[in-house]
Amino acid sequence: MHYVLDFILMLPLLIVFCIESLVKLFIPKKKKSVAGEIVLITGAGHGIGRLTAYEFAKLKTKLVLWDINKSGIEETALKCRKLGAQAHPFVVDCSKRDQIYSAAKKVKEEVGNVSILVNNAGVVYTSDLFATQDAQIEKTFEVNVLAHFWTTKAFLPDMMKNNHGHIVTVASAAGHTVVPFLLAYCSSKFAAVGFHRALTDELAALGKHGVKTSCLCPNFINTGFIKNPSTNLGPTLEPEEVVENLMYGILTEKKMIFVPSSIKLLMAFEKILPERFLAVLKHRLNIKFDAVIGYKDK
Ligand SMILES: NC(=O)c1ccc[n+]([C@@H]2O[C@H](COP(=O)([O-])OP(=O)(O)OC[C@H]3O[C@@H](n4cnc5c(N)ncnc54)[C@H](O)[C@@H]3O)[C@@H](O)[C@H]2O)c1
Ligand SMILES: *[C@@H]1O[C@H](CO)[C@@H](O)[C@H](O)[C@H]1NC(C)=O
Ligand SMILES: *[C@@H]1O[C@H](CO)[C@@H](O)[C@H](O)[C@H]1NC(C)=O
Repeated sequence: MHYVLDFILMLPLLIVFCIESLVKLFIPKKKKSVAGEIVLITGAGHGIGRLTAYEFAKLKTKLVLWDINKSGIEETALKCRKLGAQAHPFVVDCSKRDQIYSAAKKVKEEVGNVSILVNNAGVVYTSDLFATQDAQIEKTFEVNVLAHFWTTKAFLPDMMKNNHGHIVTVASAAGHTVVPFLLAYCSSKFAAVGFHRALTDELAALGKHGVKTSCLCPNFINTGFIKNPSTNLGPTLEPEEVVENLMYGILTEKKMIFVPSSIKLLMAFEKILPERFLAVLKHRLNIKFDAVIGYKDK
């Protein structure tokens, strides 16, 4: 009874906020300025991380670039400098907590306070549970989610002190919906989405409204990360398109960025439609990629 009454009392609020969201849809959003800020991007030696670095370089930020791949990160840094930005490449294996903490210390001493952190580095092993080695399962979690804890612990305190900053989580559509033969990857990306959502609430609970959060959840992207992906949900995304959406989302302080945005609708369907219909729908989506199957029916 109590709950019903509570809900009725909250109805006017619901209506006001629905109208507000609807109106906001039609008002172009203002992009914030990031000039002069120090931006750290993990996994900046290739793909999404690299292109994101280029976009931030054009916006007159200082870049701190982390990757396990030395030549990749140096190429990215060179191009950022050509675009007119300061760039500081660091070779860091994000699956190693001690490397993250020691690199973070060096960054603070040599460059300064990071105010935009983009946790982008990721790994994937496309195989069924039995063909995925234990060490690969551990690596997936270390890079795709545990690293986010260590980098955030290292750089968030200064952002909180200044009540200014932005933590960006690169997750995946696979952080909301599941796909066979991506068991470790999906569970690590669900964890990354959970990390982003819980961190967002924690910052609000602590009154740090100046520290923003964004989470990117894209479908397959043409970076070579997953081999030969395809789905009827749409063509494999070009990395440029994803990064354009990511930058717009960060600069307008959007919390959840789906690419394509139709994924949002699919997520809503998954929560309300009957299981059997969803099975048919998923079959029609026909999600495919190269994977190793270790299980054998004897
Ligand atoms: N490509 C896709 O289909 C797709 C779809 C959804 C989400 N994502 C996510 O986007 C992010 C970027 O992926 P991408 O497509 O640009 O991949 P990519 O392979 O092109 O780039 C990933 C970069 O991360 C680096 N990296 C890997 N392990 C690392 C480690 N231990 N420490 C430091 N750096 C490391 C790699 O060297 C590489 O430069 C990942 O988190 C991925 O999960 C990708
Ligand atoms: C490292 O980066 C270089 C330069 O971009 C690339 O040619 C090479 O394939 C990368 N190595 C690995 C292991 O990803
Ligand atoms: C970094 O932030 C701290 C607050 O946490 C501040 O005391 C310090 O002066 C800042 N350093 C620089 C170089 O801005």
